[in-house]
Amino acid sequence: MPQIIHERPEDAAQIEPLLEKCFGPERFKKTAYKIRKKLKPIPELSFVIEESEKLLATIRYWPITIGIDTNALLLGPIAVDPERQGEGLGVSLIQKSLQVAQGLGHQIVILVGDPEYYEQFGFFSATKCNLSMPGPVEDRRFLVRELIPDSLFGVSGTVAGGTIGGKPAGRIASLQETSHKIDKLAPLAPPAET
Ligand SMILES: CC(C)(COP(=O)(O)OP(=O)(O)OC[C@H]1O[C@@H](n2cnc3c(N)ncnc32)[C@H](O)[C@@H]1OP(=O)(O)O)[C@@H](O)C(=O)NCCC(=O)NCCS
Repeated sequence: MPQIIHERPEDAAQIEPLLEKCFGPERFKKTAYKIRKKLKPIPELSFVIEESEKLLATIRYWPITIGIDTNALLLGPIAVDPERQGEGLGVSLIQKSLQVAQGLGHQIVILVGDPEYYEQFGFFSATKCNLSMPGPVEDRRFLVRELIPDSLFGVSGTVAGGTIGGKPAGRIASLQETSHKIDKLAPLAPPAET
């Protein structure tokens, strides 16, 4: 049964080929990649789905800033093995990771993706909220979601990688805590130990 777990260092060997398969080498030219270039994904919000040690999906979140005084999260990439797409793995990975991020006090998440897919999770046009990216991006695909109501009130400006004041908006959590949270949320829960 597919299981959501925290990304571990050894998963990188399967994550990069999956990203290559889903996005190709052009991905490195994307504005979102450039923002992330010098950053590390947030460990407690980086998950993979595995089944029998095969990696089926990956999701990562990164610390970003909006304008001069707002810390937020950048979601992405998310990728599901093309042979396992359409089984609900993407939906559960996004829903559960957003719930964990919300539980840790993160307030705003941005991403670049198809609105037709991400609207179901509450994402809407970031451009209409006076947010902008530091490079080319299709307006319709630049999306934002509040994790805490009204977090976007008074927020505007350009996205950049990093954090203001050295601290992300949300609480830093132990992997044990967030593993526990994701287990509790998961219909993809691991089988009980026997
Ligand atoms: C987008 C992606 C993560 C979705 O994961 P998934 O596990 O296949 O999705 P789910 O099974 O949870 O949901 C499937 C539903 O989403 C729809 N969907 C998938 N991608 C979509 C898109 N780009 N636009 C609109 N709908 C989309 C499917 O048509 C399907 O709809 P249905 O249930 O009505 O048939 C996955 O298809 C993928 O890795 N794609 C390639 C990489 C990518 O585009 N990543 C997102 C950009 S960062």
